Amino acid sequence: MGKPFYLTTPLYYVNARPHIGHAYTTIVADCLARWHRQQGEDVFLLTGTDEHGEKVAQAAQARNLSPKVFADQTSETFHSLWKTLRISYDHFIRTTDPGHEKTVQEALERLRPQLELGIYRFWYCLPCETSFGLSEVDAAKALCPQCQRPVKQVEEEDYFLPLEKHRSWLKKYIEDHGEFILPVSRRNEVLAMLEKELPALCITRPKERVSWGIGVPFSPNHVTYVWFDALLNYISALGWPDGEKFKRYWEGAGAIHLIGKDIIRHHALYWPIILHALGVPPPKTIFAHGWWLVKGEKMSKSKGNIVDPESVAAAYGLDPFRYFLLRDAPFGEDGTFSEEALVKRMNADLANDLGNLVYRTLTMLEKHAGGRVPSGTASSQLQSEFLRVQQSVALAFSLIAPAEALKGIWDLINQANRLVEEKAPWTLAREGRREELEQFLYALAETLRVIALFLWPFLPATTEAIWRQLGFTAPLSDERLPLTLESLAKKSIPAGQAIRKEGPLFPKV
Ligand code: ME8
Ligand code: MG
Repeated sequence: MGKPFYLTTPLYYVNARPHIGHAYTTIVADCLARWHRQQGEDVFLLTGTDEHGEKVAQAAQARNLSPKVFADQTSETFHSLWKTLRISYDHFIRTTDPGHEKTVQEALERLRPQLELGIYRFWYCLPCETSFGLSEVDAAKALCPQCQRPVKQVEEEDYFLPLEKHRSWLKKYIEDHGEFILPVSRRNEVLAMLEKELPALCITRPKERVSWGIGVPFSPNHVTYVWFDALLNYISALGWPDGEKFKRYWEGAGAIHLIGKDIIRHHALYWPIILHALGVPPPKTIFAHGWWLVKGEKMSKSKGNIVDPESVAAAYGLDPFRYFLLRDAPFGEDGTFSEEALVKRMNADLANDLGNLVYRTLTMLEKHAGGRVPSGTASSQLQSEFLRVQQSVALAFSLIAPAEALKGIWDLINQANRLVEEKAPWTLAREGRREELEQFLYALAETLRVIALFLWPFLPATTEAIWRQLGFTAPLSDERLPLTLESLAKKSIPAGQAIRKEGPLFPKV
């Protein structure tokens, strides 16, 4: 078994169907998981749904459904979207899974000696399922400091986990571990939050107000606060405290949590402190990416400006959709979603650059080489070119920068297209320079093989089509990187392999 690698997405709320924001984090996670699998690593990709709490209960009530029936329905829409988007997750956890509920209760029991019971007044933002101290909200406006939506004041008796006594530990931990919170802008934001005293975290809700939650084992009148419940998924899915998977992936590999910047506070403050209080080591990395905006505003369920990923994928194809999200905004920064921008990328990068290279190469192989890949040798220049791209892609993945990886791969695509113009194989054919022609066509076919390997984590369907057209029958998903000089030579296309040309990969829109 390869080196363990543990990657998670947020658990999405089931109060509404998934939108492009949810698709985004999950597609990036899938891309990373595929890359690490190609490296021979033992990847565990976890995703799932966050199903308890007031927000979900209200949404269910509005539809006259019980929370569980409603959660079953919406959770299924995530399942089916991940299938459409070809998300290669290893486990889908639901916070209503009995095993998860038991783990949450176990964690509550263990924390019990540290908890405080008290009457508290706080501001509550329902869309964020997050409370704020009385001084954190301007009472005249009563808007959430995080999302600017209306908050309400609540006063009730709850259990609290004190955070303040962990503050200096967390601050030091962040300062000492450069990879812990990324990107750096988010890390600075969290360090700034840690300059102030941390109010205790309310981790229960009175049943009489919120009944849809995991029962608190030592208090029949309370259920667990939805965020406390949901965060624990990252270890409950691994069988904490003694599961084999927990040892292998949490303790052995260290988790990489991909999240949006909207939930940085929960992941970078509350979660490490909950873990610390439980005696569990923190995750390895929390990467908080930016938002997809529509006409300058964050796409969100409550703003009603959401774009449906199913229909975009249906209209333009899955891979163009994946490509746009992975390429158009650097991971960590905000991006602007529009169909025009997607079409632009699709026409330029996919149809013109990649699609054209594949189509013209296969056409020339048909026309000048009898539909077979001629024998040839990969020149040292070509090999070092492949290895250079490999290095730049590996570096980009180590920094969780998929857009950068794509840029490196596109250098190779663009260069190959340029070479076709310069070499003009049709002239070589006309002038009867057979050997040169075959060598060049071989090099182009090899370039396509390597491009398919590099692009598979991003564009699974497209690269499988390239693979098939090059005449391979073994699945592309079984191929392993990294490329080394030996593997380049050993795995090169067998001389005489019959190609199977199909139509263009991407229609021009
Ligand atoms: O917060 N742009 O769930 P959620 C980019 N259940 N990404 C976006 C986005 C946008 N406009 N909108 C949403 C929750 N996302 C909790 C999480 S984890 C233990 C519990 C993505 O359904 C992004 O990953 O509100 C964001 O963090 C997540 O969806 C929020 O999903
Ligand atoms: Mg949200």
